[in-house]
Amino acid sequence: MTIARDLGHRIHAFADPAPEAREAMGTIAGDPGPLEFETGEALLAEPRLADVAVITTQDAMHFEQASAALRRGYHVLLEKPAATSATEVDELARLAREHDRKLILCFVLRYTPFFRALKGAIDDGRIGEVLNIEATEGVGPWHQAHSFVRGHWSRTAESTPMIVAKCCHDTDLLAWLAGSTVTAVSSYAECSHFRPDRAPDGATDRCTDGCPHLGECRFDAHRYLTDQRRWLEMVRPDGPDMSDEEITDWLRTSDWGRCAYRCGQDTPDHQVVSMRFANRITASLTMTAFDTGRRIRVHGTAGILEGALHADGRGPWIECRLHEGETDAVAVEATAASGYGGHGGGDFGLIDALPELLTGASSDFTEGHRIAFAAAAAAEENQRRSPAGG
Ligand SMILES: NC(=O)c1ccc[n+]([C@@H]2O[C@H](COP(=O)([O-])OP(=O)(O)OC[C@H]3O[C@@H](n4cnc5c(N)ncnc54)[C@H](O)[C@@H]3O)[C@@H](O)[C@H]2O)c1
Repeated sequence: MTIARDLGHRIHAFADPAPEAREAMGTIAGDPGPLEFETGEALLAEPRLADVAVITTQDAMHFEQASAALRRGYHVLLEKPAATSATEVDELARLAREHDRKLILCFVLRYTPFFRALKGAIDDGRIGEVLNIEATEGVGPWHQAHSFVRGHWSRTAESTPMIVAKCCHDTDLLAWLAGSTVTAVSSYAECSHFRPDRAPDGATDRCTDGCPHLGECRFDAHRYLTDQRRWLEMVRPDGPDMSDEEITDWLRTSDWGRCAYRCGQDTPDHQVVSMRFANRITASLTMTAFDTGRRIRVHGTAGILEGALHADGRGPWIECRLHEGETDAVAVEATAASGYGGHGGGDFGLIDALPELLTGASSDFTEGHRIAFAAAAAAEENQRRSPAGG
């Protein structure tokens, strides 16, 4: 919302059941004060109030709210993933066509200078014909524990499968970079580390229950008081203002104070996905909790493009290595956001592109979702046929 306001968009109305969230949105929106609603449903029951509805609720709410917004005549800017199944995703695309509205997904990575430069380098043909793409999404150990073990995306039934929730960005990018539609997807997923049999001996159910491993366990929840404090604001609007005492009390009762080895989540901590596209490009995606940042390698008949977005503590970089020729750096425009702030410049890039996206040809958001949901189904089927250790 801050970026939208700064780029000259007017916020006409907003909705959130949490008073702190409404207060924060009111401050960002400034004067004249927008209309306030306690739920998105109440807002969408009103006649259309603006050109675009921006929907940033949790995954399980997206389908109903985006459907209602499209029926009300809004263009929709929707957080990813669009819905909780591939069928619902297709239905949203159908509704957008029926109502002649744009449905734009927050696939912000497409709008980063890094992926724009990579796409440009592929499209200008410098590595010849693209044959294969290898991508890795390093979730990061603490991010995994915070979001996918202790947090909002730890149970598929309450959100979406992790490969969808976390990696529909990556599957969307792969389809976009390959410039084709997928014809086959296979996948394997495992949870190898965040499981009860990997808990340190004598670990208590909550870090605050006098666990003997405080300070030495890297998932000690007390790190929310120190070097991992920034994660609080992702789950508590008042996070930045909480005192040490308030945080400690919260750890005693909230999901984020639980031992990361005993959360009963159903998410994998590593998954591989293989894809074949209609234009014969093959691709693979590795999602792992134990790396940080995105890495990618594009193999062409004349050379290789290789790069990483905020992996190994480095800024984004891309290199082009020709089989018969020089190795050159591919320029990636610098962004104002430091580190991975604003998704590597993608948040700004998406809102900046919004006027063009609203008037230009619709950009497909279904293919990446289709791949991610197919990967989730394939991994489940493979697990059923051959359980871990089986
Ligand atoms: N594009 C990206 O890279 C990216 C990054 C992070 C999160 N996300 C996605 O953004 C979405 C939101 O994630 P989050 O971490 O901000 O979640 P969150 O839980 O912090 O925020 C959701 C907000 O929705 C509000 N809400 C609940 N019910 C509502 C209702 N009926 N009407 C209106 N508001 C309601 C909640 O009070 C809360 O403020 C998720 O789908 C997530 O997957 C996308």
